Order: sequence, then C-alpha cells, then structure tokens
Amino acid sequence: MKLSSALLFAALAAPPLVLAAKPRNYIYFLPDGYGPASEVLARDFANYKNNDTEKLPVDNMAIGYVRTFATDTLVTDSAAAATAYACGQKTYNGAIGVDDDYLPLGNIVEAAKLDGFMTGLVVTSRITHASPAGFSTHTYYRDLEADIADQLVGLAHPLGRVVDVMMGGGRCFFLPQSDEDSCREDDVDLWSLAQTDYNWTMAVEREKFDQLQNGLVEDPPLPFAFIPNLDHMMYEVDRESTLEPALHEMAIATLNMLDKQTQNSSKGFFLFVEASRIDHAGHAHDPVGHLHDILEYNRAMDAIAQWIDDGHSDTALLSGADHECGGLTLGVPDYAWYPEVLDTASGTAEYYVNIFDAFNETLSNSTTADKYTFLLDHVFTPYGITNVTTDELAAFFTADDAAIYLGELLSARAGINWSTTGHTAVDITLFGHGLNTDSLVGSWENGEVGNFMAGQLGLSLANVTKLLRANESFVQAIGPDAEGKKLIKRFQLQHDHEHMHDGAFHKH
Ligand SMILES: *[C@@H]1O[C@H](CO)[C@@H](O)[C@H](O)[C@H]1NC(C)=O
Ligand SMILES: *[C@@H]1O[C@H](CO)[C@@H](O)[C@H](O)[C@H]1NC(C)=O
Ligand SMILES: *[C@@H]1O[C@H](CO)[C@@H](O)[C@H](O)[C@H]1NC(C)=O
Ligand SMILES: *[C@@H]1O[C@H](CO)[C@@H](O)[C@H](O)[C@H]1NC(C)=O
Ligand SMILES: *[C@@H]1O[C@H](CO)[C@@H](O)[C@H](O)[C@H]1NC(C)=O
Ligand SMILES: *[C@@H]1O[C@H](CO)[C@@H](O)[C@H](O)[C@H]1NC(C)=O
Ligand SMILES: *[C@@H]1O[C@H](CO)[C@@H](O)[C@H](O)[C@H]1NC(C)=O
Ligand SMILES: *[C@@H]1O[C@H](CO)[C@@H](O)[C@H](O)[C@H]1NC(C)=O
Ligand SMILES: *[C@@H]1O[C@H](CO)[C@@H](O)[C@H](O)[C@H]1NC(C)=O
Ligand SMILES: [Zn+2]
Ligand SMILES: [Zn+2]
Repeated sequence: MKLSSALLFAALAAPPLVLAAKPRNYIYFLPDGYGPASEVLARDFANYKNNDTEKLPVDNMAIGYVRTFATDTLVTDSAAAATAYACGQKTYNGAIGVDDDYLPLGNIVEAAKLDGFMTGLVVTSRITHASPAGFSTHTYYRDLEADIADQLVGLAHPLGRVVDVMMGGGRCFFLPQSDEDSCREDDVDLWSLAQTDYNWTMAVEREKFDQLQNGLVEDPPLPFAFIPNLDHMMYEVDRESTLEPALHEMAIATLNMLDKQTQNSSKGFFLFVEASRIDHAGHAHDPVGHLHDILEYNRAMDAIAQWIDDGHSDTALLSGADHECGGLTLGVPDYAWYPEVLDTASGTAEYYVNIFDAFNETLSNSTTADKYTFLLDHVFTPYGITNVTTDELAAFFTADDAAIYLGELLSARAGINWSTTGHTAVDITLFGHGLNTDSLVGSWENGEVGNFMAGQLGLSLANVTKLLRANESFVQAIGPDAEGKKLIKRFQLQHDHEHMHDGAFHKH
C-alpha cells in the first residue's frame, strides 16, 4: 500500500508535461463550401484515375463534425461562419467580425498579433471576401470590401496593421476609382498608401512571389502582399501557372516565411488558409471546377501536414468548411454515379462559356449552324458533354446562365445532381493534424473550434473585444445606418447572394 501511494504521489506531483504541451503555431485551413459529398466526389474520381482504392489526404485527418448554423438562420453564409471560427461566437449572415448588435468581436488574428505572434492570410478568393475578412476585420456587412481592404492594410483598423502576409485576389479594392480597374467608390489609392504609410510590399507579378524562394529567402520584404488578380484567383483547373502559383505553393511559402521570421521570438504565428473557390463552383453547379479545387485543397493539406511532420511538431493544423454548398448528390437517378465523365474537361464551365462569348462577339453574322458547330467542337465536347442533342444545343442560347446550364448538363451525365444554388445546413467534417488536435474528436459548434485554437495559443479573444469596443469612433464606423440595416435585410432574403455577386465581377 505504501509503495502504491508513493507512486500515486509521484504521479500527482510530476507536472504532466506531455499533456500540457501547447502548439507554438496554429494554422486554420478553411475549404469553403466543402461538404461530405464533395470529398467523396474527389476521392472516387482519384480512384478512377489511379485505378485503386486510395484515400484522399484529408481522409486520414478526419477527427469530428462541425455544426454551422448562424444566429438568424439555420443555413449559414461564409461571413457568419468565418466570424464564428475566428471570434469564437456565432452571429448573423453577412456579419464580418461583429455580433448581433453590430458590436465588434475580437478575432484570433488580432489576438495573436497583439500578443507578439506573426499572422498571415492566404486565400484563392478576393482577399477582401467574407472568409479572410471574418478572420481579420470588422463590418456589419460583407459586401463593404473597400472598408475591409482599408482595415487589412492597417489604415482603418483600430489596432493598426494586424496582418504580416496576405495572398489572394481582389486588387480592384485597393485602386482609386479613377483607375479603370477599380471597384472602389472613393479616391483612396490604398495600393500606394499601403506602401508609403504601412511599409507593405505590394506584389502583382508571379516573379515577386518566386523571389520569396518558397519563403526561405534571407530577408523577406515584410509585410508582404501578393495580389495578382483584380478579382478572385483563377479556379485551379483554369489556372495559368505563369501568372499564379497554386494554393499549396502560396501556403508553404508563407509557412516557411512566418516560421523563419519568428525563430528568435518567444511567440510563433497564426496562419489562415482558404481554398475559397470550392464554394464558387458549388454555387455554379460546375463539377469540374469543384473537383479540381478540392484536389488542390487536398494537395495543400497534405503539404502542410508533411511540413509539420518534417521538423515542425510545434505547429497544429485544423481544417473544416464553413458550410456545405449546392446540395451535392452523387447517384442520380438511382445508383448512377460515373466520376469518369469528369475526366475530359481541362477547364471550368465558366472558362468554356468565355470561349463561346469571344467567338460570338467576333462572328455576329455567323449562322445558327455555324454557332452550333462551334459550340459542339469548342465548348460541349472539350467540357466532356458528348452525344449532344439539338435541343440541348439550342437550350444553351436561352439559358438564364449558360455556365450553370453547362455544369448541370455534365453533372447529369455523371449522375451528379445539385439541389440548390445556395448553401445547405448539413454538418461538415473537421480535420486536424498535429499537437492536441485529436482532443477535438466529436461534434462541435463552429465557435467552439475558434475558442479551442485561441486557448491553445494562450490568447484571450474577450480581451481584444474589450479593446475594440473601447474605440467609440470605430464602433460607430462599422455599424449600419438605416440604409445599412435594409441592406442586411435584403441579403437575408436573397439566399444565393454569393453566386449573383460573383457574376458581377470579371474573371481576373
Ligand atoms: C484496373 O485494374 C483492373 C484490375 O486489376 C484491370 O482489369 C483494369 O484493366 C485496370 N484498368 C485500368 C484503366 O488500368
Ligand atoms: C480608433 O479606431 C480608428 C480606426 O477606425 C483609429 O484610426 C483610431 O486611431 C482608433 N483610436 C484609438 C484611440 O485607438
Ligand atoms: C516603416 O518602416 C520604418 C523603417 O523601418 C519604421 O521606422 C516605421 O515605423 C514603419 N512604419 C510602420 C507604419 O510600420
Ligand atoms: C535569429 O538569430 C540568429 C542568430 O543571432 C540570426 O542569425 C538570425 O538572423 C535571426 N533571425 C531573425 C529572423 O531575426
Ligand atoms: C451572341 O451575340 C448576339 C449579338 O451579336 C447576342 O444577341 C446573343 O445573346 C449572344 N449569344 C450568347 C449565347 O451570348
Ligand atoms: C455583318 O454583316 C453586315 C451586313 O452584311 C456587314 O456590314 C458587317 O460588316 C458584318 N459584320 C461582320 C463582323 O462580319
Ligand atoms: C449520353 O450518353 C450517356 C451515357 O454516356 C447517357 O447516360 C445519356 O442518356 C446520353 N444522352 C443523350 C442525350 O443521349
Ligand atoms: C436534380 O435536382 C433538381 C433540383 O435542383 C430537380 O429539379 C431535378 O429533377 C433533379 N434531377 C433528377 C434527375 O433527379
Ligand atoms: C486578459 O485581460 C486580463 C485583464 O486585463 C488579464 O489579466 C489577462 O492576462 C488577459 N489575458 C490574456 C490571455 O491576455
Ligand atoms: Zn462559404
Ligand atoms: Zn458560398
């Protein structure tokens, strides 16, 4: 008895070093609009290509489920979900880092920055889009992307600059309205101001990205922004690699850079990565865009997990979507699901419709027969839609949205159906790799995941919230006036917002 009490005493007295170990660095990787069926779509396609029964990289990292509802609706949008992950609290659809009363909520990027960590945002949407915005800025309505850009740079952020590296699209929100490429409604030349007043290196050319040497360059030009496109980055399957790196390249370069730059610091980094356009292809009912952005998400997750295993065991990775998108179903009609149908296309439906539009513009006098021939040879066939009927060709000209029409036609041939052009309420899968992530086995609210990450880094989101709310002029500036409240109301009534919004922008 004596011996065992001595042992018990020793066990209690010994500090539980292993259990108490916390990661120094955290990565949150958001695959926007990636539901459970999306994963199966890509896995079955990969197995068809490889003729075996391999799993996807993320299949090996599955740890739990996330419940995604927003405060005002059971079906969340990206803004409310990003806010929940970043701030640890649910809010209304459209909200960027504010609660139901439009008051700011401290986010994990701000908390990390204030505590001496470095931070990064790496996405394939506009950098001002809902998810990266929800992780780093505050405004009552997601479409105020110029205001979001102002905060990203540090100009209109009450804490100054809180981001060290940002990569993604959306350059149009940094240009003054006098510039023909601008989508701002004021004269602020944020692109120049970021460089002169906030020390940002603002890069457009891929060459500038390559000069980072995978993030290992001796003296990286921080803070660093790489924003090659006016609008979103290209879909992976359409990507021109001379202009844009792939998401996994941007993620690893940023990881290396943040890791190296914090090597002498007592604090590490927080990095937000997003495979943003899995969602856009879901809204557009395009199985090809969806598939290839999912495969790239898996490449990036695999690369990050390997990076962690390769001498960075002080870094943890969590990944979960904000919501499902499109109501994707595999097996319509009964038991029909043919991933091989997706093998032909080397571009999205949007890409092929653009090819037709260019032809249509130059050949306004061409006969209907000419147009049908062109459509068949340069659009339907290369996209993988074979044995086309004349009715199917004719319907292309009367479709409300030619790209959605094409996507649905190919989907039907593959046994895929989409039940909505919006999001759905289904749970999404939580993935993790690295220190303590296995403690998230189970089913969680999205906000709980954010609080877990903050706890792991020893950060207090509530302290940041207090700090932000102490700035009255800021609280005033990010809240809605009467017109703003109507904007939110209209947004809540119009569920396929993101798709319609995307249509308002050109491709690059
Ligand atoms: C796939 O594997 C099966 C069984 O080994 C074989 O019969 C078939 O020819 C293979 N197909 C392809 C496309 O390689
Ligand atoms: C309050 O926030 C604004 C940005 O909206 C910032 O310019 C100002 O410096 C902040 N004031 C204080 C006292 O921190
Ligand atoms: C910009 O860099 C200069 C020189 O390193 C430094 O003195 C200044 O404080 C920096 N400005 C900001 C806004 O970080
Ligand atoms: C960290 O310290 C080492 C040794 O003093 C130095 O060579 C290196 O440049 C420092 N790294 C950074 C990012 O400051
Ligand atoms: C093709 O161009 C004509 C005008 O030249 C236009 O009326 C028509 O809508 C265009 N068709 C498509 C499918 O864009
Ligand atoms: C279309 O036809 C009209 C009348 O025949 C002609 O004036 C015009 O130049 C043609 N346009 C093109 C693009 O060929
Ligand atoms: C085209 O072929 C597919 C099988 O590859 C078949 O399922 C589909 O019904 C055919 N469509 C038409 C319009 O014949
Ligand atoms: C596919 O879903 C749509 C609703 O989005 C529905 O109208 C259609 O009937 C479905 N197609 C099949 C073959 O079930
Ligand atoms: C939060 O603020 C309280 C009160 O100022 C302070 O005691 C505590 O250390 C802070 N927590 C963190 C994690 O910064
Ligand atoms: Zn989303
Ligand atoms: Zn969406």
